[in-house]
Order: sequence, then structure tokens, then C-alpha cells
Amino acid sequence: MRIGVLTGGGDCPGLNAVIRAIVRKGIGVYGHEFVGFRYGWAGVLSGEAMDLTLESTRGILHRGGTILGSSRTNPYKEDGGLDQVHASMERHRLDALIPIGGEDTLGVARRLSDDGIDVVGVPKTIDNDLAGTDVTFGFQTAVQIATDAIDRLHTTAESHNRVMVCEVMGRHAGWIAVHSGLAGGADAILVPERPFDIDDVCAHLRSRHESGRSFSIVVVAEGATPVDGDVVTEHESADAFGHVRLGGIAVQLEKEIEARTGYETRMTILGHVQRGGTPCAYDRVLGTRFGVAAVDAATAGQFGMMVALRGTAIETVPLDEALAEPKLIDPELYETAEVFFG
Ligand code: F6P
Repeated sequence: MRIGVLTGGGDCPGLNAVIRAIVRKGIGVYGHEFVGFRYGWAGVLSGEAMDLTLESTRGILHRGGTILGSSRTNPYKEDGGLDQVHASMERHRLDALIPIGGEDTLGVARRLSDDGIDVVGVPKTIDNDLAGTDVTFGFQTAVQIATDAIDRLHTTAESHNRVMVCEVMGRHAGWIAVHSGLAGGADAILVPERPFDIDDVCAHLRSRHESGRSFSIVVVAEGATPVDGDVVTEHESADAFGHVRLGGIAVQLEKEIEARTGYETRMTILGHVQRGGTPCAYDRVLGTRFGVAAVDAATAGQFGMMVALRGTAIETVPLDEALAEPKLIDPELYETAEVFFG
């Protein structure tokens, strides 16, 4: 077979592990050939591509980012986009595509599958918000980076008797916030799934300080909202998939908490630091297992599917099922984190 591979949407640690695994198993075991499209769906439209060989995918397992580059291009938003995808498949003599991405990239894959292109998806996102798989690769690395940052904020918070507000990514899901907050011993964790009441948050901090503690750590997801407010956005304009750029809720919280409690407060927005750098071992292993399974699925003709982790097993699930709803945080997990608030 000749198979096209692409990485779309926000990059995340572990993408190169997937690419390497697809190529190693695909060439080594099946004798397939691979074309890597540059910058996600943009490369499929423009034809910008590179050969993926044993040589070009050597030495990349531990490297963050993606050797293919990525973008948030949506072929269905481009004039004649579908025709260009078909033309690209023909020009490169491709039998199938393996897109590696989150809900947007895999949403395009699902539509292409309906439009007659053979695809096998690989789920990726630091946000961990894709249904159909228990975990996406990239998530564990992001959680570790955020936890390390919270640990660092902890010691300086203690030295200065301050409240530290740490904003993490995650879009409209609180997975990174609740995992890093739990691991970092946060005194409050604010997530999109549970709009917060600022009076409650401050009452909580006050009772903690009145009981003898002189500092606090608040972890907030970028998509968290106050009960009577909306998400904070950095820009009004939306990308090709309709997403606005989130970020900045920590700036508001810093002001509100300090004004209401009188405690000196500082905020930190972790931003893209959470997506950069070396993937942790878990993400290298999961990415490798996904890559191997994806090439197996393509070889077996299991199209319109996505590889997924279910329990400890790698399985294939229909893209339709995986994309039906976003995967939000487990209420039980949040309740466990709440035990340690204040
Ligand atoms: O989906 C991954 C993610 O990092 C989100 O957590 C975040 O909201 C978004 O991407 C940021 O996107 P960009 O890199 O385009 O600013």
C-alpha cells in the first residue's frame, strides 16, 4: 500500500513517536510506502509532502513537536477543498490516509471517509477530551509540566504568603486542571465543567488562611467560567473550525481574589509550555502503540475507524462514535480532588 500521513491541529508531545511507529511497522512488516504531508490538511491541499522512510524517521522518538509540521487548516472551508484532497491522493498514488489529530482533524477525516477516502485516525491532544479513547497521547506530558510548575509556585507562594493562580490549557475540558491540581496539591481547582462562584472560592481561601495557612494555590482551566459569566478569550476571531483563542481567566481571578480577600495574589499562565518539549515515557509508549495499531488497521482495511486505548488494550472504534460528544472530566475524579480543597 501507499499511505499518506499527516499531523493536524495543535501539536503535542508524542506525535513523532506515532509517525516513527507507523513507518517502522508499515515498511518493516508490510512493505508499504509512506508520504508525509506537511502542515496537516494544508499539505494535502497544496501537495507539499515528503517521503517518510526508515531513514527520515530515525532519531525522532524523544523529540517533541512534529517533523511534519501542523496547522489548523480545514479543507471543507476551502473552495474545491474536497476535489483537491482527491487530486492529491491520485497524484501521490495513495490508497489511504492516516491523519493524527484531535476532534477537528479527525472530524475532517470522518467527513472524508463519508466522501469516499479511506482513513484510519490516530487520536492526539493534550486536552484529553476525545471520546472513544480512555487517554490521548500528549496529555500525560502536559500534566507533568503543569504539575512541575505548580510545585515551583508552591514554594514561592509559601515564602511570600501569597495566593498563586495557575492557568492551564484544556479548551472546554478540565482534564489538565484536575490532574495537575490534584497532583500539585491545589487548594481550589476551577474547571469548565463546573462554573465557579467567586464568592465561594474566596470564602474557601479565607477559611484556609483563618485556620493558619498563609498561602494558597488555585489551578484554573483556561475554559473555566464564573456562574454568571462567559469564557475569557484573547481574540474575538475564530479559527477554521470555529474555535476562539482561550486564555486570560487567571488575570481576572488575580484581581478579584486580591480585591475580595486582601491577600496578595499573583497569576501565571502556563500556555504553550505545556505542549512543548520532550514527551514523557507514557506518551512515547502510547504513541508507539497507536502508530503500530493504525498501520495494522489500514492494512486490514478497517477504514472510518480510529485507534483507541480502552483499559489496557489498543482497539479500533468508529470515528462517528469517537466524535459524537467531547469527553468531559469524570465527576468522581473532581469529587476526589475536592476532598483536598482549602
Ligand atoms: O487543543 C490543544 C490546545 O493547546 C488547547 O488546550 C488550547 O486552547 C489550544 O490548543 C491553543 O491553540 P493554539 O496553539 O492555536 O493557540
